Amino acid sequence: MSSFDRANEAVSFLTNGLPEGLRKPQVAIVCGSGLGGLAETVQSEPRAEFDYASIPHFPRSTVAGHAGKLVFGLLGQKIPAVLMVGRAHFYEGHSMEQVTFPIRVFKQLGVDTVVLTNAAGGLNSDYSVGDITLLNDHLFLAGLAGTHPLRGPNDEDFGVRFPPLSDAYDLELRRHVHRAWKEITTPQTNRKLHEGVYAFVGGPTYETRAESRMLRMMGADVVGMSTVPEIVVARHCGLRVLAMSLVTNNAVLAPVPRGDEELLQDKAAGELSALLEEGKAGHEEVLEAGRAAAVDMQKLVVQTLVNVFGSA
Ligand code: HPA
Repeated sequence: MSSFDRANEAVSFLTNGLPEGLRKPQVAIVCGSGLGGLAETVQSEPRAEFDYASIPHFPRSTVAGHAGKLVFGLLGQKIPAVLMVGRAHFYEGHSMEQVTFPIRVFKQLGVDTVVLTNAAGGLNSDYSVGDITLLNDHLFLAGLAGTHPLRGPNDEDFGVRFPPLSDAYDLELRRHVHRAWKEITTPQTNRKLHEGVYAFVGGPTYETRAESRMLRMMGADVVGMSTVPEIVVARHCGLRVLAMSLVTNNAVLAPVPRGDEELLQDKAAGELSALLEEGKAGHEEVLEAGRAAAVDMQKLVVQTLVNVFGSA
């Protein structure tokens, strides 16, 4: 069965379970690690939820902190939206086609804009934990090497064989995000909004120091394990894309201490491990930074969408 047919099966299932007013969402939002709170900003009436497990062909997420449900409702009072709370990742063993399947379901539901959020590591030294990065480009090393969601026969029902990606990150939407940020921040806001390049890595390991330096040298500002395959598939089928990362940790760029370093020769084993702990990424840290900053990121997404679609 083609992915077009599978997406249509999922859509029939969802549409049957949805009240009239929610059947044609305009916007889809993918909520990344710890960013599912956006779903709570959706009005309680009308609202419908589906576990991923109940939706035909839908991939499931097994990661702690990713709930795994699709929420339909009105965002910012009146914008019909569908939210994915938790996503499936390539590192969980899903194929590139599976992790991007929800995007095709959104397309077949009639969505025109997709907002993707994620937790990412900061590579740019100007970025602090808790900052937000609006994505304006990406590095897809796996895709360049052939691990690509559009590899194989092209599904003409969705888009062309050779889609361009030089304009993947919608400029008008990015302008709206910067304006919305000015509206929602106060002089007390101690996080910054950046705009930058996201590097996709397969995971599940965090990067080595040398890998982090390589990605930084190549022009990446943030690094993460999601989003890019989804963006590629969204652009293939003509969806407008807005993507942002919450910087949940800083990648370690400093070279690893050398075993022949004079100053380290007399250190106890405990001191050596303390030295290596500095800046090390961990999943708990990622979730914690997410919790603290999620509220601002949610506000930013909602304010942007209200400004873009408010009159809908
Ligand atoms: N690297 C890759 N993915 C991530 C990171 C990171 O440092 N932080 C959150 N997701």
